[in-house]
Amino acid sequence: MSSTGGAEVLVASNRGPVSYEMRDDGSLHAKRGGGGLVSGLSAIGPDADAVWVCAALSDGDREAARRAGGGRLPAGDTGGQQVRMLDIAPDVFSDAYNGIANSALWFVHHMLYQTPLEPVFDAEFRRQWASYQAYNQAFAEALAQEAGQGAVVVIQDYHLALAPRMLRRLRPDLRIGHFSHTPWAPPDYFRLLPDDIAAELLGGILGADHAAFLTRRWADAFVACCHAVLGPGIPAAGETRIGVHGLGADAEFLRKRSHEPDVDERMRALREEIGEGRRTIVRVDRTELSKNIVRGLLAYRQLLDDHPEWRERVVHVAFAYPSRQDLAVYRDYTAEVQRVADEINAAYGTAGWTPVVLHVKDDFARSLAAYRLADVALVNPIRDGMNLVAKEIPVVSDDGCVLVLSREAGAYEELGEDAVVVNPYDIGGTAAALQEALTMGDEERAERSKRLAAAATALPPAAWFLEQLGALSG
Ligand code: G6P
Repeated sequence: MSSTGGAEVLVASNRGPVSYEMRDDGSLHAKRGGGGLVSGLSAIGPDADAVWVCAALSDGDREAARRAGGGRLPAGDTGGQQVRMLDIAPDVFSDAYNGIANSALWFVHHMLYQTPLEPVFDAEFRRQWASYQAYNQAFAEALAQEAGQGAVVVIQDYHLALAPRMLRRLRPDLRIGHFSHTPWAPPDYFRLLPDDIAAELLGGILGADHAAFLTRRWADAFVACCHAVLGPGIPAAGETRIGVHGLGADAEFLRKRSHEPDVDERMRALREEIGEGRRTIVRVDRTELSKNIVRGLLAYRQLLDDHPEWRERVVHVAFAYPSRQDLAVYRDYTAEVQRVADEINAAYGTAGWTPVVLHVKDDFARSLAAYRLADVALVNPIRDGMNLVAKEIPVVSDDGCVLVLSREAGAYEELGEDAVVVNPYDIGGTAAALQEALTMGDEERAERSKRLAAAATALPPAAWFLEQLGALSG
């Protein structure tokens, strides 16, 4: 404990390390999550005086936050991690999360708008913006309360772009970092946002001592936006420092976890679905507009047209886990993925061969089973901050795999040399890349896969998290 009684290290993110499900009898069932931040935070050790501030996302979460009386959650639910979950009013949360973060900001940074009719920045949008401000203010206030004198605070992602400046006003003594997990839009696209809001977002992040990104490309785009929107001299030297920390795969965890019995069992089931002796093209994504799943399916269909010799001999294993289903555009995209997969199966399938094996129920053990079986990994996002799947599959695959990778994924910066690189919009080019991947010689494939795995694990989550902290301690 520091002298003022507050924590020494604080993490803030929308989604926390635990979620609650309310049972019919009113009891709460806690479920712990994974991901880079969870394993990253474990790097500072169980004795560290660290608190994680996150939002209550579900009704169960809200109930747990209420039962905790606005304080920290029971340590038994969180695996010992100190967690404070903020019970933000549901309509404010929904405006901030669905309306601003996952619509406006996600769409801008991933360049997803169909611009003749979108975006619509009207009175409704302004109302949602006020909720986004309130949501960020709630985080800033909670962090200000929880932090000890001179504590280090690392604020994560686009949900919380305003919080660094808000927190700085409340607690000038703190060392504040912000980390963006998404791409950052180039100035011409970023400036689709109303000018005052564009300036507020940039100024919010510049309230941090250190603003960090997953790749040099996104960091440069952020600085270019600051110049274009705020003025050529901003950020000025000595103010906010810009950092690049390319989160890598957690090899140790993945290799161990992917050999546990539940994964073996799912491999047996998957092998049966795929059929004896067939090659596999594997993709695993949240069903997310930026992931470009539909064009991936269309490229696979073109492969079957251009190279009919692959019919009956290859299967596209596509796991597409529904995400952000409160938003109609995500629901429509989820339906479109299903429709195109069904269409391919109806047109090309035979009695003994299902060309596309699509699963939509999230199952981590089955994802790992697919990673192990992958001959080819297809990662073709329109834009992506990093894409950890691109890094995980080469680490886990049993026989080494060929990675077909979009040049618009952050992972391209580190893996581009040993991947088969595609323009994600080019369906014909992606089909040709799949053909190249399927026909690559064993030796070349093994060598490339080894180099991919090494590059993918260069900065595991623990080291990545320590780099964020290190950037603030000097
Ligand atoms: C992206 C974002 C994360 C987010 C994740 C899942 O990776 O950068 O901040 O948590 O997507 O999205 P969700 O909306 O389900 O939290």
